[in-house]
Amino acid sequence: MFDKNLIDLSVMSTEQIDKIIRKAKKIMQSPADYRHACDGKILATLFYEPSTRTQMSFQTAMLKLGGRTIGFDNPMNSSVSKGESLKDTITIVGEYADIIAIRHPVEGTAAAASLYAGVPVINCGDGGHLHPTQTLADIITLSCEKGRLDNLRVGVCGDLLNGRTVHSLIKTLAKYPNNSFVLISTKELSVPLYVIDILEKNGCKYEISHSLADAITDLDVLYMTRIQRERFASEEDYQAQKNVFVLDKEKLDKAREDMIILHPLPRVNEITVDIDDDPRALYFKQAQYGMYGRMALILLLLQDDEFFVENRPFVVSNHHCNNPKCITQQEPYLPNLSYEKLGMVMCGYCDKRID
Ligand code: NCD
Repeated sequence: MFDKNLIDLSVMSTEQIDKIIRKAKKIMQSPADYRHACDGKILATLFYEPSTRTQMSFQTAMLKLGGRTIGFDNPMNSSVSKGESLKDTITIVGEYADIIAIRHPVEGTAAAASLYAGVPVINCGDGGHLHPTQTLADIITLSCEKGRLDNLRVGVCGDLLNGRTVHSLIKTLAKYPNNSFVLISTKELSVPLYVIDILEKNGCKYEISHSLADAITDLDVLYMTRIQRERFASEEDYQAQKNVFVLDKEKLDKAREDMIILHPLPRVNEITVDIDDDPRALYFKQAQYGMYGRMALILLLLQDDEFFVENRPFVVSNHHCNNPKCITQQEPYLPNLSYEKLGMVMCGYCDKRID
C-alpha cells in the first residue's frame, strides 16, 4: 500500500529518502527558484504540544515556497477544548488545507489522523514514539557534513526511552549499511525493546554504555538528547535522571577531531554552552538543514507523483492495543489496525506489540 503520509520515515525505501535529501540540497543551492512552487497551497500546523523549531520551520518552509499557513499551537484555543474528537478536527482541517503537519502528546496520533484527513499528513512528533521530520534534519546534516549515511558509528545519549527523535533516527539509519550504535543512557532510560528488535533484524551492531566519557572516544557522530521531563510519571523520577549525562569540554577533549555533535534541541543542560563554538558542534546548523528538508518534503508530497511512502500492510482486526499511551485508548472509534512483524502482532498506530 502506498500513500502520501509521512508517519514513520523508516518505512520508506532508501531511494525515496535519498530523493528528499537530493531535493533539499537543490533548494539550498538556489532557494529563489522555489519561491512560487506552492503558490495557492495551504499548510495546516496542528500542534497539540509545545514546539519552537518544528512548527516554525514548517511554517517558514511553506512561506518560502509561496504557500500559506493556518493552524494552532495551543489546542485549548480550538474546539478541542470543547471535547471535539481528533476525527472531527482532522476531517474539517483536511477540507481547509492541502497538507497537515501534526504534533500530539499521544503515540500513534499522526497515523490516526491520516485515516480522516484526505490530504497528506506529516507526523511532527507523536508522544514518545516517532519524529520523522527531525530525522530528516539529522540525516541531511549527516549527508552534508559527513558525506554519507552509511559506515557511521553513532553514539546516542540521554533519554533513549522517551526520546522520539532517537527512535526515528535509529530506525532510519539502521536501513543503511554498516551503521553501528552506542546506546548511552541510564538503565531506566534505555531504548524500548522494539527499537532493539529493529537493530537486530537489520543486523546492526550496537553496544550499551552507561558512561559518556568512555563511549565518546571513538564515534563519528554523538547525538545528545534532553531528558523528556514531560513524559515522566513523577517529578522525583525526573530529578533522579536529569544531569546524569552532560557533554562538557573535558569529555569533548577525548573525542575525535572529526566527530560531529548533533542535538534535536531544545537543549536543557546536557551540553555546556562553552561547546557551542567548537567546530564539531553542529546542532544549530542541523536546525537550518531541517527547514530545507521540510521544504523538500512539502514539495514532493504535494507535487511529485513518483514520490510515495510505502506503508505496512495494515489489517483491521480484533486485536485491541493495550499500550496506555496509544491513541486508541483515547479515541475509541478508531479501527483496530495491526500488522505482523516476526510472527508478532503489532499495533498499527503506536507500533507496540499486541499480545
Ligand atoms: C524534539 C521533540 O519535540 O521531540 N524537539 C524537536 O522537535 N526538535 C526533542 C525534544 O523535545 O527534546
